[in-house]
Amino acid sequence: MEIQGCIIICFVATFLWQTSVISSTVDVENSMSTVVVENSKSTVGVENVQPDETLVNQMWSYVVNSQLVKSMFNKDDPTKCITSIYDITVKDLNGNDVCLGKYKGQVLLIVNYASKCLLTSENVDNLSKLALEYAPQGFKVLIFPSNTFYENIGGNNAGITLQKEHPEFDVFYQVDVNGANTDLLYVYLKKQLPGNSWISSNLWWNFVKFLVDKSGKPNQRFETYDSIESINEAVKKLLIQN
Ligand SMILES: *[C@@H]1O[C@H](CO)[C@@H](O)[C@H](O)[C@H]1NC(C)=O
Repeated sequence: MEIQGCIIICFVATFLWQTSVISSTVDVENSMSTVVVENSKSTVGVENVQPDETLVNQMWSYVVNSQLVKSMFNKDDPTKCITSIYDITVKDLNGNDVCLGKYKGQVLLIVNYASKCLLTSENVDNLSKLALEYAPQGFKVLIFPSNTFYENIGGNNAGITLQKEHPEFDVFYQVDVNGANTDLLYVYLKKQLPGNSWISSNLWWNFVKFLVDKSGKPNQRFETYDSIESINEAVKKLLIQN
C-alpha cells in the first residue's frame, strides 16, 4: 500500500508536471475564467475556475480532492457511518443544531448560495418558483450560503437577508463546500455524487444543486449551468415515488 501510494503520487505529480496550461480565456461577462488544460495530444479537462485563485492552487486542489488520492489517504472516512442525509446535523442561521432527519419523507434540493454572484437573482427567482410550485407535495429548497467562491458578501447576514425575503426556502448557517473545512453535509454529498469530472468531486461554482429523495439519499447533482427545466423534471419524478 505504501509503495503503491508513492507510485501513484509520483505518477500524478509527473502527469501534472507534463501537463501544461496552454490556453486560458477570461469571460468578462460571467466574471469567470475558462481554463483548458491540455497535454500534447488531447484535451484532458475543461473546467470553470474562479479568477481569484492561481492556477497552481487550482491544480493542487484538483489533485488532493481527487477520489484516487482521497481513497489512499482517507483512513478515517467521516461519512463511513452515514446512510442518508438524515444522519447529518447542520446549523441554522442562529448557529443552533438542526438534524436533517426533520426532513424525512420530503424531496430536497440543496444549494450553495452566494449573495453577490452574477447568477444570484436569476437562480433565486427560479428556485423560488420551484419551491412554491412543489411545496404542497413535500418539496423544500435548502440553501447553504457559502463564501467558497468569494461572493457571499456580508457573511451570515447574507443568509439572514435571503431568509427574510424568501420564507419558502430554509436557509442555513454559512458553510465551506470545498477545502479542509468542508461541511460534513458537503463531504457526504460530493462522495455520493462526485459529478462528471474525473479529476475532482469539488464544486466549481455557486448554485450547484443536489437533489435528495424522500429517503434522504442523494439522487442527482446539477451543475451551476444545468437548466431549471431539467431540475423541475427530476423533482417531479421524485415526488411521485413512494
Ligand atoms: C431561469 O429560468 C429561465 C426561464 O426558464 C431560464 O431561461 C434561465 O436560464 C434560468 N436561469 C437559471 C440561472 O437557471
